[in-house]
Amino acid sequence: MRLKDQVALITGGASGLGRALVDRFVAEGARVAVFDKSAERLKLIETAHGDKVISCLGDVRSLADHKAAAANCTERFGRIDCVIPNAGIWDYSTPLVDLPEDRIDAAFDEVFSVNVKGYLLAVKACLPALVESRGSVIFTISNAGFYPNGGGPLYTASKHAVVGLVRELAFELAPHVRVNGVAPGGIGTDLRGPGSLGLGEQSISSVPLADLLASVLPIGRMPAVEEYTGAYVFFASRTDAAPATGSTLNYDGGLGVRGFFSAAGGHDLPEKLKLAQGEKR
Ligand SMILES: NC(=O)c1ccc[n+]([C@@H]2O[C@H](COP(=O)([O-])OP(=O)(O)OC[C@H]3O[C@@H](n4cnc5c(N)ncnc54)[C@H](O)[C@@H]3O)[C@@H](O)[C@H]2O)c1
Repeated sequence: MRLKDQVALITGGASGLGRALVDRFVAEGARVAVFDKSAERLKLIETAHGDKVISCLGDVRSLADHKAAAANCTERFGRIDCVIPNAGIWDYSTPLVDLPEDRIDAAFDEVFSVNVKGYLLAVKACLPALVESRGSVIFTISNAGFYPNGGGPLYTASKHAVVGLVRELAFELAPHVRVNGVAPGGIGTDLRGPGSLGLGEQSISSVPLADLLASVLPIGRMPAVEEYTGAYVFFASRTDAAPATGSTLNYDGGLGVRGFFSAAGGHDLPEKLKLAQGEKR
């Protein structure tokens, strides 16, 4: 129970990575305000976790909705220790050349208002409570915050912008609030695209990510969504992560250490060391 008595607010908490974070934070002893636009999925979380959670229905592009969520959370749980801006959309790696001229304005605005403005507004609305609790912010970034080809220019630029938010806000909110980021790699979730590009109903679950990533990642497989949650518990923990602010964790299966000729340089280690190869994990 590393987060006993903490209160967290998680945006995009009704699905995918956010939902796994809600489940993990509750298991670690936290109470969680779940901010999402899906009323249906919020209900499922209430059913699963009862009075350990509250639902905050809203759109992360709206400051009023963030303020209502923050007020709802402090009213019900008395405080906010950790905010995780996490709700996002992906551009399905649409390259610049394929962005239609008549939709580029709307697509840029949509991706940036969810992925960047939505993050900024979450912190803005929770700031008084965070300063009061000497709390922390943990932004969900992506491998696209560091490397090309994890999205098209809209998604990649939006996630690079979040790295900037980590650095700027870690400075601005110190010494009261720690601000860090976690940059996961591909995850089998329900990540959607911008409606302005006709991708609002497209789900990343339709992409054979597990097969694609097995040969691309040094760790040799796509991690399950639950396996990404430990980093957030670490950054939220006041005892374990007291020195951590302004840091971003590349948590993507090793994309930064891929080789030229293969993803994993040590695939033949068991043979070379004459070890019986254990079951592949
Ligand atoms: N899936 C991946 O491969 C992957 C990889 C790296 C980073 N990420 C990041 O992880 C985060 C979570 O995405 P996911 O993969 O779990 O996707 P997901 O679609 O399963 O979950 C995202 C949640 O955000 C909510 N949401 C979206 N737009 C919203 C809005 N305007 N207002 C309120 N709620 C909104 C959705 O309803 C959904 O519940 C995103 O920031 C994404 O960029 C995902």
